[in-house]
Amino acid sequence: MYLDIDKLGVRNSYKLLTNLVVPRPIALVTSADAHGHLNAAPFSFFNLIGADPPLVVLGVGNDASGLPKHTARNIAETRQFVVNLVTEELSAAMNICAIDFPDRFSELAAAGLHTAASVRISVPRIAEARVSLECELVQSQRIGQNNVIIGQVLALHTADGVVDERHNVHDFAPIGRMGAPSWYCRSTDHFEIHRMTFAQWQAQQQANTNP
Ligand SMILES: Cc1cc2nc3c(=O)[nH]c(=O)nc-3n(C[C@H](O)[C@H](O)[C@H](O)COP(=O)(O)O)c2cc1C
Repeated sequence: MYLDIDKLGVRNSYKLLTNLVVPRPIALVTSADAHGHLNAAPFSFFNLIGADPPLVVLGVGNDASGLPKHTARNIAETRQFVVNLVTEELSAAMNICAIDFPDRFSELAAAGLHTAASVRISVPRIAEARVSLECELVQSQRIGQNNVIIGQVLALHTADGVVDERHNVHDFAPIGRMGAPSWYCRSTDHFEIHRMTFAQWQAQQQANTNP
């Protein structure tokens, strides 16, 4: 089946793409306006997009009035945000943070979440998150109704036991967003595929043809 995005229209292409490009990690973003009013909201148009420097991207839409959502406005004002990664214990609170609360309403209090100080930036992280990334705005661009925000990761916070002294990760299973609006998946089912060099691949091909 061939589907032309222009003919599908925004509603159908959103529905299809958010059900097809899955699973998506979820950033529960804390941000603050210039007066320090804190905000928290989840975003699944989110990913890690570079390593040197480490970069994350958020795709933040506009609210019903056509203005960028609070998160995008706050990041434009203060150039700082924290990505708190969402594990299953945080999922109910994350869903509360997605409510279209009015300006200056504390999502964190409504969701029963607490803050902990960041180190490199003034926006706090969520104390209950097992992993948080302190980020600084590098670039943002409005493309249609999207506010594309690229941030540089300045620091990481991880709960005890998540990272060992060799920088291996343990006991961390963030949830992923599946079909919008309300399907999720767990990331507890892992399997491994070893990457090969060209020489290893050639050797394998030879072994397969001359067993
Ligand atoms: C799991 C999940 C993922 C979401 N992802 C996005 C997203 O990527 N972009 C977006 O604009 N809204 C997304 N939303 C909706 C926002 O979280 C919601 O509009 C929120 O109220 C925005 O808050 P703010 O105005 O305080 O920034 C998502 C909601 C949920 C529950």
